[in-house]
Amino acid sequence: MTASLTDTRSAELYRRSLERLPGGVNSPVRAMRAIGRDPIFIDRGAGAELFDVDGNRFVDYVCSWGPLIHGHAHPRVLEAIEQAAAKGTSFGAPTAGEVELASEVARRMDGVEMLRMTSSGTEASMTAIRLARAATGREPILKFAGAYHGHVDGLLADAGSGLATQGIPASPGVPAAAANETVVVPWNDTDALVAATNHYELAAIVAEPYPANMGLVPPAPGFLELLRERAHHNGALLIFDEVISGFRVAPGGAQERSDVIPDLTIMGKVIGGGLPAAAYGGSRELMERIAPAGDVYQAGTLSGNPLAVAAGLKTLELLTETAYAQLARTTELLADGLREAIRAGGWFGRAHVVSVPGLLTVFFRRDRVRDYADASDCDRDAYAAWCRELLARGVYPPASQFEAWFPSLAHDEAAVERTLEAATAAFAALPRGAGA
Ligand SMILES: Cc1ncc(COP(=O)(O)O)c(C=O)c1O
Repeated sequence: MTASLTDTRSAELYRRSLERLPGGVNSPVRAMRAIGRDPIFIDRGAGAELFDVDGNRFVDYVCSWGPLIHGHAHPRVLEAIEQAAAKGTSFGAPTAGEVELASEVARRMDGVEMLRMTSSGTEASMTAIRLARAATGREPILKFAGAYHGHVDGLLADAGSGLATQGIPASPGVPAAAANETVVVPWNDTDALVAATNHYELAAIVAEPYPANMGLVPPAPGFLELLRERAHHNGALLIFDEVISGFRVAPGGAQERSDVIPDLTIMGKVIGGGLPAAAYGGSRELMERIAPAGDVYQAGTLSGNPLAVAAGLKTLELLTETAYAQLARTTELLADGLREAIRAGGWFGRAHVVSVPGLLTVFFRRDRVRDYADASDCDRDAYAAWCRELLARGVYPPASQFEAWFPSLAHDEAAVERTLEAATAAFAALPRGAGA
């Protein structure tokens, strides 16, 4: 399907982009280095499919890393954006849509009475931490190894995702003072969590309730409840980063699915429907510490941008109970099919699939992955080879063992069928003995 990698339009654009963009991209994982190939330049998307600049067509499981839960270029989302754009693209003044979006989020998420919008999940994380510090008068925060909360200085320690993909433990340029205020604990490790919460006086425990930046590693039974109990015993706030899980694993995100309600919630991706928008929210009491209601400062020229709000509102409006049932069915079909592909392709006992509605990871490891150390122990070379084979067969997977797959509502049975045929053939095509 892909022509010789040196004479394609993608290759030419990549050569030019390397002159102007660090690594040729505007966000590291797009470079596809972790799977040992050059990036693919995209021309357009439609439904479940991506079309690259060379005319190749792929079933897309990245879906912009999560925002496109209805697939690419959904006509009703586009219409909402066009209608908003025709009225003007930004005002730097409040609009009706922002009130509606905040109300819709509050209706869905028990932990969110009020929210503040930002343009990225990183900003939302940064300010949720600032608010937790202001509310508790403490500085240390606890995060989990392999969890990614954006590129906030103090949260880059053991941050999984793109950093793990590039083999970067944290990042040069992060002040020691910022890193020193972060306590990192292994995910799903009850003893380590109890020990850390007995030792430190924390401002917050911040967690992805369904971590998806070391691949998808769901919480062990009772672990989210323990997070809440330990946070409150400590006097810390519990912050759920629902940038990925929010509006995806259930209408009200992981907090609905688990019934563990955090003090603060970080949102992103789906809330902007494919345009730049994110938010953090919580109880009225906490959120009224934010300026101008309160004394904790945070602002943004494009925060609550009318186009992003319109895309987010329409995206949420289309996320009905029926849509969630369909997404759960599609994910299950895909996960079961991939398990079968592992068997049929001769990889049983060397790879396994983990899924929750709307998210999935194929781990190249025999034993179940419980934490970041386990995820790092996967056969990443085999994953990379499998991804290259998938791309050659018209399937676009996340180009890293540490990223989750994002099936969407546009993935119909035919798209899943095409994926599973490609996946089986891709397993069978892997070098004999790879991953053994
Ligand atoms: C769980 C989580 N939190 C925060 C972020 C940061 O969001 P953004 O890339 O919009 O800054 C991401 C990004 O992938 C994420 O997955």
